[in-house]
Amino acid sequence: MIGSATPKISLSRSAWAWWKNIAARDGRFAAAWQLLVALAEFVRNSTPARLRQRYGDADYDWEHRVNTTSAAVGWRDRLLGVFHSPYQPTDSVLFHEMIGVLSAQVGIGFRKFTFIDLGSGKGRTLLMASDYPFRRIVGVELLPTLHEAAVENLRKYRSESQKCFASESICGDATEFAFPAEPIILFLFNPLPEAGLRRVFENLRQSLSEHSREVYVLYHNPLLEHVLGQNPGWKKICGTHRYAIYASE
Ligand SMILES: C[S@@+](CC[C@H](N)C(=O)[O-])C[C@H]1O[C@@H](n2cnc3c(N)ncnc32)[C@H](O)[C@@H]1O
Repeated sequence: MIGSATPKISLSRSAWAWWKNIAARDGRFAAAWQLLVALAEFVRNSTPARLRQRYGDADYDWEHRVNTTSAAVGWRDRLLGVFHSPYQPTDSVLFHEMIGVLSAQVGIGFRKFTFIDLGSGKGRTLLMASDYPFRRIVGVELLPTLHEAAVENLRKYRSESQKCFASESICGDATEFAFPAEPIILFLFNPLPEAGLRRVFENLRQSLSEHSREVYVLYHNPLLEHVLGQNPGWKKICGTHRYAIYASE
């Protein structure tokens, strides 16, 4: 449940739900095989050499004295990431490019918009979004330890370019998030499997039918873009192989 105390996410329940989903789609043997492959990949990614590689995303942290790197994520959260979605922070150059393209293409001023990142991890996008004059910034993260890191990062972050000071991280399931009745810029970096993403867009459709307003989606690494592309409520504004930007119709 969103916004209540932050219960630990169970590894066994996460693994079971993951397995059941795949078994329902592809059959039990395929699910068992995919589980083995995923666990083998997890073990391969746990070697010191792979750990060092993950520090490749830490430049942003050195510059801003925060902790958003995927290298400093414990084994339990990394294993949970196998069954939900692995934590990986968005590259800052790409983030600012996406926001710049949105601003240039549609000429929106950001002041009336709430920036929302569903699956916000340690909160790097929340920090980067605060360089723009959003009305407010909200992140929703499933894993309590990543959410707690985001809270700490938001507390520590100082930047001369900061323009928004109303940021929060909420610990909860993005599929249960109740969208605020405000113009929204929704950021997604593959937090959910297809069924979960469809649920999010169904929640958003209902919210839009109750309170019509402008909503833009910034979709980083749009692996499930067809969920939006096939949806008559959304129009693609622009995109590259690295991101896609959609507007509500
Ligand atoms: C690829 S990371 C993106 C992190 C962040 N948005 C960024 O761009 O820097 C995806 C995040 O989604 C989170 N996640 C997975 N399932 C979720 C769910 N049901 N609700 C909320 N967050 C979820 C993961 O824990 C992970 O932190």
